[in-house]
Amino acid sequence: VNLRPKARYDSVFRMLNPEGRRGKLRLDKNENVAGLPEELIQQALSGLTAESIAIYPEVQPLYKKLAESLNLDEANLMLAAGSDPAIKSLYELFVGEGDSVVLPKPTYAMFHVYARMFGATAINIQYGADLSLDQGAILDAISPDVQLVAIANPNSPTGTVVDEGFLRQVVEKAHSNGVVTLIDEAYYPFYSGTMLPYVNDYDNMVVTRTFSKAYGLAGLRLGYIAGSESLISLLKKVRPMYEVTGVAVHFGTFILDHTDVVDTYVAQVGEGKSYLATEMDKLGFATHPTHANFMHVRIPEESLRNAITEGLAAKDILITGRQGPPLEDCIRISLGPTEQMKRVAAGISEIVASTGTR
Ligand SMILES: Cc1ncc(COP(=O)(O)O)c(C=O)c1O
Repeated sequence: VNLRPKARYDSVFRMLNPEGRRGKLRLDKNENVAGLPEELIQQALSGLTAESIAIYPEVQPLYKKLAESLNLDEANLMLAAGSDPAIKSLYELFVGEGDSVVLPKPTYAMFHVYARMFGATAINIQYGADLSLDQGAILDAISPDVQLVAIANPNSPTGTVVDEGFLRQVVEKAHSNGVVTLIDEAYYPFYSGTMLPYVNDYDNMVVTRTFSKAYGLAGLRLGYIAGSESLISLLKKVRPMYEVTGVAVHFGTFILDHTDVVDTYVAQVGEGKSYLATEMDKLGFATHPTHANFMHVRIPEESLRNAITEGLAAKDILITGRQGPPLEDCIRISLGPTEQMKRVAAGISEIVASTGTR
């Protein structure tokens, strides 16, 4: 049969999500690696009934609570099943065949995937070997020929940030060229810098955030996109019938009443980060500074990198071993409380000792 798909799936790399990760120490996908306190989960679950599951989602309570907590209007927000589909809806609305998008490289992989899926070309601004970003090159690349510029802050996978002054320059240059700007704040509040309070000042900027990282709800798929009322009403035109599940609404509303656990987790990750950096330093491994809940450890010898990644996997500790430039000589470890960091540091130390390389 001659089906004629419109999206360019042919050129899109297909990322298979790894499974079988339950019960392991998961330091490979930057989730909340400790999980929310079990008693809190039980408390939230006790509010769910057969009716909560049988009924189509009623999303209003979460819009209301989220708007209050962010000091925005409900009309400034659109919920989505994770920040990833929120990002996809922005592409769906603004990016089409033959368009250009300005993207740092490397950045969140789906920025590139969606560019190709919707038929656009990416103008890539490559990070330097020292993880510096050529900010002038980003500004220079913004022109009337561009449809979208996307910046994750902190960026993944580099863990680096740019300051508010630069982001304002980007948004303002984009504004005068009729370009929409995406600021991806998936790693908020590990890094507290944010453009969210300015969504009403710039009608060409949106900010995406997620409940998957610090908030510990990755499995529920919950995120949102914030923007001016006019931009959000445009995005709602490409919204699915129900943007999130009723269970996600329930947990999202619940966690916004218990943000003290999120604050505690962020503080614990800060402690875990210092601990891990110190332990890696003792082993003679440099670490890149990071503003997110993951850290890159430089291990120039490929054989040692592989031995560590594989040796940890054998101990049921998952990390990321293979990465592209400029992080090709690094392993990436998601950060968590010191308890979890002790396990990974001890694992690495044992493997290094057994290889006799240090
Ligand atoms: C920078 C960035 N943006 C967005 C996402 C998507 O997260 P989610 O769809 O779970 O909200 C991720 C996930 O790793 C990310 O690193």
